[in-house]
Amino acid sequence: MAEILCRLEEIPDGQARGFVLDRGERTLRLLVARRGGDAFGYQNVCPHAGIPLDWNHDDFMSLDGRHLQCATHGAQFRVEDGFCIVGPCQGRSLRPAPVRIEADGTVVLAE
Ligand code: FES
Repeated sequence: MAEILCRLEEIPDGQARGFVLDRGERTLRLLVARRGGDAFGYQNVCPHAGIPLDWNHDDFMSLDGRHLQCATHGAQFRVEDGFCIVGPCQGRSLRPAPVRIEADGTVVLAE
């Protein structure tokens, strides 16, 4: 079943947005990054220390806007595949979250 997250235009191009989903006994934290007409979903959990990447809500991008960045120790991840290229978890990856864009522009989580 797919769960609606937002509309693609609600994520500024080149930025990312966080989502907190209630799963009963657990909370699922996701982020969705937008690159033009594409959306890339990951669990909002840094592979270094297992905490959310953003200190400030929806503040996920590096200063140059090219990569996702963890606010705690500065790890940077490629938007396209979540691979860590800089920082203490270099060589590891964000866990992907299966998001897709529907024909009407809705971004959904396909679980
Ligand atoms: S917790 Fe993310 S880089 Fe350390």
